[in-house]
Amino acid sequence: PGILQIVARCDWRKVVETMVERAPKLLIAIDGPAGAGKSSVSRLLAEQLGYRYIDTGALYRAIGLLAIEANVSPEDVAGLARICETAKIALTRNRIHIGGRDISDEIRRPEISDAASKVSTHSEVRSALLGLQRRLGASGAAVIEGRDIGTVVFPNAEIKIFLDASIEERGHRRYVQLKETHGDNISLKKIIHDMAQRDKRDSERDTAPLRPAMDAVYMDSTKL
Ligand code: DC
Repeated sequence: PGILQIVARCDWRKVVETMVERAPKLLIAIDGPAGAGKSSVSRLLAEQLGYRYIDTGALYRAIGLLAIEANVSPEDVAGLARICETAKIALTRNRIHIGGRDISDEIRRPEISDAASKVSTHSEVRSALLGLQRRLGASGAAVIEGRDIGTVVFPNAEIKIFLDASIEERGHRRYVQLKETHGDNISLKKIIHDMAQRDKRDSERDTAPLRPAMDAVYMDSTKL
């Protein structure tokens, strides 16, 4: 209880401001499952700190989209490796382009979420995207979100947060989001089912599975 009182009384904005003053180029890693709030929190934090925001999920989504367009199966490792080699991905704060084409909106489609999760299970795909992620974050002063940032991509990140929430709450958040773009033609039950499947795949893969780093701060956003 003593620690909880201190935590409750702590002025977290001040703490972060002080850290950033002392070390102005921190790397902040935010990992967690879909719908936990990573993107919202990362964007806000980056904005408040004047940091860059790096969404690594968008890279896997880009490969998923290219695979679908090229009729390459998510199991075809050689085909996916070729796509990774030739894809000219440019990631900026809010947009992602492949070879000059803006794919930022397309990659948010539910079937691309599924394809991204499938292609990301292959170590060949992960290692092809590793260098790019490390280059993007190399100069620090960035909030970088994903599944394996604190464990694999930037194990030395100064601040690591593992953001989680109940599957029902995460499904509900995605439902509200999709309802805006897809109207009434969506089912909460199906969203929760698909999300649980994606979480399972992301957490059980052999290479860089979704899990909190030993030194990550675990936060549950279910009621936040
Ligand atoms: O964060 P997101 O929902 O946009 O990510 C889409 C998929 O990409 C996710 O299901 C798993 C994969 N991914 C990953 O394996 N590693 C990351 N660092 C980011 C995303």
